[in-house]
Amino acid sequence: MDRTAQLITPSAARSIAYDPPGSSHSLHVRAARVLEGNWTGVSTVPSRSLYPHQWSWDSAFIAIGLRHLSPLRAQTELETLLAAQWGDGRVPHIVFNPSVPLDAYFPSPDFWRSSTAGRAAGAPRTVQTSGIVQPPVHALAVWLVHRADPGLSRARGFLARMYPRLAAWHRYLLHRRDLGGGGLASVVHPWEQGMDNSPAWDLPLSRVTPAPARSFRRADLDHGAAEDRPTDLDYGRYVRLATDYRDARYADGGGQFAVEDPAFNALLIASEHALARIADELGAPGTARHARAERLTAALVDRLWDPANGMFLCRDLRGSAQDRRGALIPERGVSGLLPLLLPGLPRDIVTAVVRTASGPHFGLGTTTRLLPSYDLLGEAFDPHRYWRGPAWFNTAWLLERGLRTHGEHRRADAVRESALELAGTTDFAEYVDPYTGEACGATGFSWTAALALDLLHSDTTVTADMGLKGGNRR
Ligand code: SER
Repeated sequence: MDRTAQLITPSAARSIAYDPPGSSHSLHVRAARVLEGNWTGVSTVPSRSLYPHQWSWDSAFIAIGLRHLSPLRAQTELETLLAAQWGDGRVPHIVFNPSVPLDAYFPSPDFWRSSTAGRAAGAPRTVQTSGIVQPPVHALAVWLVHRADPGLSRARGFLARMYPRLAAWHRYLLHRRDLGGGGLASVVHPWEQGMDNSPAWDLPLSRVTPAPARSFRRADLDHGAAEDRPTDLDYGRYVRLATDYRDARYADGGGQFAVEDPAFNALLIASEHALARIADELGAPGTARHARAERLTAALVDRLWDPANGMFLCRDLRGSAQDRRGALIPERGVSGLLPLLLPGLPRDIVTAVVRTASGPHFGLGTTTRLLPSYDLLGEAFDPHRYWRGPAWFNTAWLLERGLRTHGEHRRADAVRESALELAGTTDFAEYVDPYTGEACGATGFSWTAALALDLLHSDTTVTADMGLKGGNRR
């Protein structure tokens, strides 16, 4: 029996307009097929070829789409990830599937050695994971998944089981990762921020001595075009940073790379609002958490807002020996626009961010079909190479939600339309050339399919702050 048939709902008809000529299935059905094909029974792989395990922020975005097909699967996706949480609260960026051969992905479990090198930090003994983290989209995802079917969620005790894990996760980030002392969380590896080879990392990475090329073997080039992927030099540096972290037994604070990133922190703050809503739902008022989210928003503005560029920038904590605050990195990455997601962002900053997104550096609604990952006019811009220019669907989704949060419906509608169109024409590509919409990386990519589903099904008629501040919207 075709199991995807179970995932097709009558609202599938709404997606007909986004289907390429000759296609016999709606976008809804095609997206459901991708997620069905990438489901392992307990979680979803981002892509069968390139990423054959469970990835942390992928799973959060995937659950946000999966809730429209199967709220039970969406809950299971998040439960599987959070079951691999470490004792110190960190949620690992990869949970390894033991039935996948070691050489299918690098760095594999024998590189991270979580159950031995991570023992002091409380890594699980039975499941193998990486030792770094990814952006904390999880409380937001748990909240949205709950809202898709509150009856099922209550019957399964979903929020009550997830809440303590999410609270420990946020505690880890806000305490162990406040390496700059200003209240924000730092990332200690480019993979943690998720935009691996963003030009924003070129300067902090330039201080890192690469691991020798012969000391490791990349598996990504077996599945992706070398021009679309990070370079060998980047990989040498990623390996060096991860090796040093592992050899320090995953203790925080000593590494050569420590950066405060606007998107990572904005997602943490949005998730803190979601955690407050979850606490409310569980009968433990979340007022203190909402207040903390507002304080973190103020810290984000204080530490990362750059009025001259009209956007947020990254702060390189290892950048200046004289100044403990470090220095802002003068590169415009899409990360610097994503705090738009925050309901408490001051109005003048909202206006400036929207202006920057629509201006020559990002071309929203003018020169680009989808928001590029990096400054179109930047020296390092490359429309095809991983996070150095191409457009990604998760950042488009976050921007769409952010624009709606602040009442910018016309612009949000345009982002939604082009994301849906490109998801359909590229067969759910991992990323696309921002000018032409040409597919890059993998196709059949899970978060592209999941977030297309969410855009198809989400309410576009109201100010959608994803219910972070109250109300009954999905
Ligand atoms: N995104 C990284 C990779 O390409 C690490 O998670 O493998």
